[in-house]
Amino acid sequence: MIGIIGGSGLTQYPGLQIDENRDMETAYGMPSSPLKIGHLNGQEVVFLPRHGDRHQIAPHRVNYRANIDALKQLGVTHILAVAAVGGISSQYGPGTLAVPDQIIDYTHGREQSFFSDAFSADKHIDFTYPYHPSVRAAILKVAVELKLKPVDGGTYGAVQGPRLETAAEIRRMARDGCDLVGMTGMPEAYLAREAGMLYATLAVVANWAAGVTEAELSMAEIERTLAAGIDNVQAVIAGVIGLQTLG
Ligand code: HPA
Repeated sequence: MIGIIGGSGLTQYPGLQIDENRDMETAYGMPSSPLKIGHLNGQEVVFLPRHGDRHQIAPHRVNYRANIDALKQLGVTHILAVAAVGGISSQYGPGTLAVPDQIIDYTHGREQSFFSDAFSADKHIDFTYPYHPSVRAAILKVAVELKLKPVDGGTYGAVQGPRLETAAEIRRMARDGCDLVGMTGMPEAYLAREAGMLYATLAVVANWAAGVTEAELSMAEIERTLAAGIDNVQAVIAGVIGLQTLG
C-alpha cells in the first residue's frame, strides 16, 4: 500500500475519500495526527499530514519515528512524501516540481534511528542513494505525462528550522551542492529506509531561498505559491497511485 506524507500546503487532502481516521500509538509515541485511511483513484491509501491536522507541529518537533512506524504498522510499503522547499539553484524557481535524488542533512537533535536504544553493528544501514529509484521514476513519469515539467534530480538540504535561513547559510549550502532547502526531509527519508519502505519526495518549490533574490521571504507569498501548485501535486499523487507498477 502507498502512504502519502503531506507537507506544508497539503495538510488537508480534499481529493481523498477518507474511510477511517485511525488513532495510533507507537513504541516511539504519537504520530502527527490520526492516520487517514482512504481511497484515491480506486486504490487504498494512507495519508498523514506531517505537521498535524492544523499545521501545529514545527519541523523540529515532528515525531518522525512515530509517523514512519505508524505507516509501517498499517502495511505501507511505499511512501510518497510531499515537501515544500526553497529553491537555491537556478532551475528550481517558485512553482517548480522537483524529484530530488540526494540529501545533505544539516539537522540536529532529532531522533535519527529506530535502533537508538538497541544498537548493533549491523544497524549501520546503507543510504548512498536516499530516495528509491522506482518511486522517483513513477513520480517523474506521471508529472511528465501531465506536462508539469518536473525537474529530475537535485540535492535536498535538510535544515533544522523553524526559522528560515540567512543569505550566508544559503550561499554555503549552494557551495555544498544543495539545490533545494527544506526542514523535514531528514530523518524521515532515513527512517523509511530503516523500516524497509520505498520512499521518494515530490518537492514543491515555494520560494527562492534566502538571498537568492533581493526579496525578503514572506510566508504569505510562500503560501500563495503552494496553494497555486497544490492541484498539480494532487494530480501527480493520484497518477502515481493509479500506476500498477511501483517497483
Ligand atoms: N527554507 C527552508 N524550508 C522551506 C523554505 C525555505 O526557503 N521554503 C519552504 N520550505
